[in-house]
Amino acid sequence: MFNTMTLTKAAGAFIGALLFLMLANWAASGLFTVGHGGGHHGDEEIAQAYTIPVPETVPAGEEEAPLDFAALMASADAAAGEREWAKCRSCHALDGSDGVGPHLNGVVGRPTASIDGFSYSSAMTEHAAEYPTWDPDHLQAFLENPRGFVSGTAMSFAGIRDPQARANLIAYLETNP
Ligand code: HEC
Repeated sequence: MFNTMTLTKAAGAFIGALLFLMLANWAASGLFTVGHGGGHHGDEEIAQAYTIPVPETVPAGEEEAPLDFAALMASADAAAGEREWAKCRSCHALDGSDGVGPHLNGVVGRPTASIDGFSYSSAMTEHAAEYPTWDPDHLQAFLENPRGFVSGTAMSFAGIRDPQARANLIAYLETNP
């Protein structure tokens, strides 16, 4: 007993099955290609071909080539960094006194969460176990996205997106031992 409805259902089922096969094939080829990536020289191409769209909360830098921060530090401009410092001075001082945040003179190379008498968040003291020193690379990762990098930190600061601006600021901090 064929009528239009049955035909429509049959066609629908057939197309559905076809779609499923195409998707399964696509997924399998993805696994296959990645599994044999070692034999190709185009690992980057493969990674990009299967890049999954990420939510905007993930810093855009993570999709790009790894940041060569040492190169940015080498060409950093401490005078320009002093202008960036304007974003920090409401909470941090450079004269050894603590305010909302701990003093930051001498922070480059300083042990993480190490200022006696400053009450750090537990997030920051736990972070210190994993990242014991504020070297430039550690600082720049924190300053890009403080709450993304040290989840639960008491520092409410949105972050500095421009990597060169972060390098300039760290160069300025280096001039304040
Ligand atoms: C709204 C206030 C505020 C602003 C603005 C702010 N900070 Fe902080 N900062 C804090 C607080 C509070 C802490 C302590 C965080 C914790 O214990 O989780 C902190 C901690 C830090 C630390 C860790 C210090 C240590 O001894 O381990 C660094 C480095 C730092 N800030 C750098 C900066 C820089 C650079 C800027 C400017 C770009 C900045 N902060 C802007 C409040 C602020």
